[in-house]
Amino acid sequence: MTFQYFGHSCFQLQIGDQTILVDPFISPNPLAQGIDLRNLCPNFILVSHGHGDHVADLITIATQSDATVIANYEIAEWAKSKGVKNTIGMNTGGVLTTPFGRVRLTNAVHSSVLPDGSNGGNPNGFLIHSSEGNVYYAGDTALHMDMQLIPLWAPQLDVAILPIGDHFTMGVEDAIMAAQWTKAQQVIPVHYNTFPPITIDTGKAKEQFALAGIELRFCPLQEIVVL
Ligand code: NI
Ligand code: MN
Repeated sequence: MTFQYFGHSCFQLQIGDQTILVDPFISPNPLAQGIDLRNLCPNFILVSHGHGDHVADLITIATQSDATVIANYEIAEWAKSKGVKNTIGMNTGGVLTTPFGRVRLTNAVHSSVLPDGSNGGNPNGFLIHSSEGNVYYAGDTALHMDMQLIPLWAPQLDVAILPIGDHFTMGVEDAIMAAQWTKAQQVIPVHYNTFPPITIDTGKAKEQFALAGIELRFCPLQEIVVL
């Protein structure tokens, strides 16, 4: 499995022959200006919640690629109303079998409204079980006790992708606790340094994780990282 970071909370996983894009927010992100949207052709797009910094390029990329959008029911219906052909609307607790593995919609403690004011349903994270490893993406969330369920569903968690920017989500200290609760082998940080309220000292964050015995793996933009 590979991971490719597109800035903020947007990334792409490659699992076997399937490409999975998550929370597409590229064109409005000043840190992601080198990325050409037209090159993106995922098979699936996963959306954690309705906020603009997670759905900004959803319709454009879903339309050009014919990707299947997997999200909560409200976001899936919204995407359909904007012309997206392939959508799978789920809700928290549901597990879907896909060509890249099983996807569980997990709880997230946050809010969710779409950019045009439409109801964005409840926010989610995703737990992916695949033949190439297990990945938990927490979405935008506070630390919450349901993260203790993750190792019950996935005793071997290869990577947790966690927000660490604070202010709108958990910060570094809570993300360390999340990493411990999920028993992740490694942590990839997201949702930091995009805007002033979530700007953090990345060196210090790495140190804090290291003190807890956890590898915090910052991924350079666009580099294909093997997990
Ligand atoms: Ni959000
Ligand atoms: Mn966000």
